[in-house]
Amino acid sequence: MSAKKLIINELPKVVKIVEVGPRDGLQNEKKLISADDKIALINQLADAGINYIESGSFVSPKWVPQMATSTEIFKKLVRKKGVTYAALTPNMRGFENALAVNADEVAIFGAASESFSQKNINCSIEESLERFVPIITAAKKANIKVRGYVSCVVGCPYEGDIDPEQVAMIAEKMYQLGCYEVSLGDTIGVGTVASVQKMLQAVSVKVPVEKLAVHFHDTYGQALTNIYTALQMGIKVVDSAIAGLGGCPYAKGASGNVATEDVVYLLNGLNIDTGIDFQKLLSTGWYISDKLGKAPISKVSNAYRAKLTKIDSA
Ligand code: HMG
Ligand code: MG
Repeated sequence: MSAKKLIINELPKVVKIVEVGPRDGLQNEKKLISADDKIALINQLADAGINYIESGSFVSPKWVPQMATSTEIFKKLVRKKGVTYAALTPNMRGFENALAVNADEVAIFGAASESFSQKNINCSIEESLERFVPIITAAKKANIKVRGYVSCVVGCPYEGDIDPEQVAMIAEKMYQLGCYEVSLGDTIGVGTVASVQKMLQAVSVKVPVEKLAVHFHDTYGQALTNIYTALQMGIKVVDSAIAGLGGCPYAKGASGNVATEDVVYLLNGLNIDTGIDFQKLLSTGWYISDKLGKAPISKVSNAYRAKLTKIDSA
C-alpha cells in the first residue's frame, strides 16, 4: 500500500520578532520599574539578538503612568548597532517627544472597534485616522518609519466579535496612509485558528501579506497556535513580549502578550531562524520577572528554570 502524502504548507525560513515587552509588557504592570532597570532589560534583549525593540511610548502619563519614563529611557540608552528602538506615538505631541529623543521608528495605534478606540485613545476611529496623517507627514520629513497597529482584530472587550471586513478596511487605511507594516492585534487574546484565518484572509486581500505582522495576547492560551496559523498564511513578523508580560490597561481582563521565549522555542523547533540566542533570552526573562517579583508567564521559561534549579540542587 502506498503511503498517503500529507500536505504541509511551506513555512518561512526566517521570522522577525518585534519585542514589545518594554512597552506593551510593562505598560500594564502594577509594580513600577525604574528607567535604569528598563534600560537594563532593553540592553539584555538587544544582547540576546533581538533587533527590533519597542522601548517605550509617548502617551499621556495620566493615561499610562508606567510609560512616563520613556523620555529618560531614550535619552540614556546606549544603542546597539543594527537594533531599532521604537516607540508608540498616539498624536503629534507624542511624535514630537519621540523625535526629540531620537526614537528610531514610531508606531501609531488604531482599532477595528469603535468602543475600544474611544476607551484607549479617546476618539473615534475616523478621528484617529485624521490624527495619524500629520504624524506620518512629519515622520516622512524626519526620515522615520511608521508602523501601524490595529487593535481588536478578532474580538473587542466592549463589542464582542469583530467583522474581518472591518479589520481589513482599517488595516488598508493605515497602509494607504503610509505605514510600512500593519500589526494586527488580538488585544484580548480571544482568537482561534478559525477566526484568525478568516481575519487574515480578509486583510490580505487589501494589504500585501508581506506588509502584515501579528500581535497576539495569550488570554485563552491560543497565541502559539494562532501564530503557527499565521506563518502558514505567509506572515513573517511576530510581536511578542519577554516573559509574557503585559496587556492593555484599556482592555479589561486581557492577559499578557505571547511570551517571546515560547515563540522562539516554537520557531527553533520548526528550524525557522530568528537570530536570537535562546539562553540569553531566557536569562532576560528571568531578570525582568525577578524585578517584578513574579514568575514568567511562559511555560517554556518556567520549564527551563525548573530544570536549572534541579541541576543546581543535585
Ligand atoms: P485626551 O485626554 O483626549 O488628550 O487623550 P488631550 O489632547 O485632551 O490631552 C489631555 C492631557 O494629556 C493634556 O494634559 C495633554 O497635555 C496630555 P493636561 O492639560 O490634562 O495636563 N497629553 C499628552 N501628554 C504626554 N504625551 C502625549 C500627550 N497627549 C496629550 N502624547 C491621548 C488622548 C491619546 C493622549 C490619551 O488617550 C492616551 O495617552 N492614550 C494612550 C493609551 C495607551 O497608551 N494605551 C495602551 C497602548 S495601545 C495597546 O496596548 C494595544 C497594542 O498593544 C495592540 C494590541 O494589543 O491590540 C498597540
Ligand atoms: Mg498589545
